[in-house]
Amino acid sequence: MKRTKIVAGNWKMNTSFEEGIALVKNLREAYNLISPKMIIMPPFTYLTEIKNIVDGTVISVGAQNCHQELKGAYTGEISPSMLKSCDIPFVILGHSERRQYCGETDILLAKKVNAALSQGLTPIFCVGEPLDVRNKGEQNDFVLNQFINGLFHLSANDFEKLIIAYEPIWAIGTGLTASPEQAQGMHAFIRQEIKNKYGEEVSASVSILYGGSVKGSNARDIFSKPDVDGALVGGASLDVVDFLKIANSF
Ligand code: PGA
Repeated sequence: MKRTKIVAGNWKMNTSFEEGIALVKNLREAYNLISPKMIIMPPFTYLTEIKNIVDGTVISVGAQNCHQELKGAYTGEISPSMLKSCDIPFVILGHSERRQYCGETDILLAKKVNAALSQGLTPIFCVGEPLDVRNKGEQNDFVLNQFINGLFHLSANDFEKLIIAYEPIWAIGTGLTASPEQAQGMHAFIRQEIKNKYGEEVSASVSILYGGSVKGSNARDIFSKPDVDGALVGGASLDVVDFLKIANSF
């Protein structure tokens, strides 16, 4: 995907069916900008219903995860080919909550990325360091390793199809936000490493989102940084007014 301004809402395991439908209908009424591009990631169970509600509008939908195989005896799992068959174009991979609670490793995530790309999906691939790593000043090495092990096996052509999200774990759901300078510092580092690996053209074309307690009140400062292309929003994406405020902060 070409470098684009994006505001993505990760609903995580929140909302009832009714609440989710109401939320998306309110967004549909209120949002009609092509830029930033709005993507929402509801729970799997509501995905197709919500997709139908936003079809023909500027809002896109994505899934919060997918399996590394395309089909088979994997009870309870959802494959990228199933998402494709429902016309769901985006999928979050490597979110820190799945790394932490579901034991997802870079090796597994590399397989998930391959499977998702094989179906023409656009992965929103998350990286980010825990607090102790940041406190030791080792965040760049930590994030670079996530790239090396999870993504740098890809060809330049495939890498260009990704969206990257930098989400420092210490800032997710905590109310602590990376300062705009901290976000810019890491985004610039990531872009430089992509350039080292794939060259200028690829690094200039990849969208890098920031995630971690983004709200209407802090989005403008974060978005003012040159290497920040948008946000992956958790908690604030469940609040129509605040999510729209974020989207309107560019
Ligand atoms: P948060 O979550 O905005 O609630 O911190 C961000 C995310 O996990 O994507």
